[in-house]
Amino acid sequence: MAVRGDSPHRRSTAVVAAVAVAAAVAAAVTSSAAAADADTKWSYFGPRGPAFWGTLDPDWKVCETGRSQSPIDVMMTPPVGPLPVRELASQNDHAMLMPTQVLNGVKYSCVAPGACGTAVWAGYTYDLIQMHLHVSSEHTIDGTIFPAELHLVHAAEDGNLLVVGVLLEVGAANMGLEKVLAATTASVPVLPGMEGGMNVTLSTADWESLVPGEGGWCQYGGSLTTPPCTEGVTWAVSSTPRTASADQLRRVGVSLLSAGGSVVLTDRPVQPLNGRKLTCYSGHMAM
Ligand SMILES: *[C@@H]1O[C@H](CO)[C@@H](O)[C@H](O)[C@H]1NC(C)=O
Repeated sequence: MAVRGDSPHRRSTAVVAAVAVAAAVAAAVTSSAAAADADTKWSYFGPRGPAFWGTLDPDWKVCETGRSQSPIDVMMTPPVGPLPVRELASQNDHAMLMPTQVLNGVKYSCVAPGACGTAVWAGYTYDLIQMHLHVSSEHTIDGTIFPAELHLVHAAEDGNLLVVGVLLEVGAANMGLEKVLAATTASVPVLPGMEGGMNVTLSTADWESLVPGEGGWCQYGGSLTTPPCTEGVTWAVSSTPRTASADQLRRVGVSLLSAGGSVVLTDRPVQPLNGRKLTCYSGHMAM
């Protein structure tokens, strides 16, 4: 198995991942906020909301017909044991990400894919290609909704996707999130074009505040949580939330404001499990 995570600049995080199939990442509709307003393809509420995504575009049919959609309610099952591999996802020191306004949110793209982080699972190596936030959380844990959820999107060379999900709860301020917010505040008003924008550089300590290095992870096969809702995405959801201050969480919400200034929740409702297997691990295997 290709293990690319043993450089001293990489930090190990026990995260579950797996073989995935498919496709285009979080269909970054890179239109400006203004253009998005005029030509809003999908939304989180109203006639273009999640209940209608599958009928808005023939390419999004699976949003409605798919049987392996995300997010889901993660029902904590007793862990089957420790993670089968010691290192599953790691994020790099000095990872640089560029904020971009996308339809219904902001995404942070790794400026040098492969240089931000990797994930390894079942022989696949994935690169961390972008991350983004949802308000409120998309996954719920035993029915509990969290204020926000961070998604770290990884892609393998063949396009297979692995998304690591981390729930955020109110608590101590999060230093990594603070850097993300600073870059967002500096960049988003001037997007697109980026003059005056600011990239975010995350250190190992910043990543530690954002992504649990220990605790449990639950894995299942799901989909993109935005149109086109492509299935075949491997999900690894942390059962240990990270904290952010109430003020930070409020600012995350503000950063996702629609062009019109109305508050937009950016969480797709949970989808039926349809008999899918959810596997929870207790954390790192003792080495
Ligand atoms: C962010 O990084 C990208 C890619 O390296 C670069 O093109 C862009 O100019 C950077 N933005 C700023 C504001 O430095």
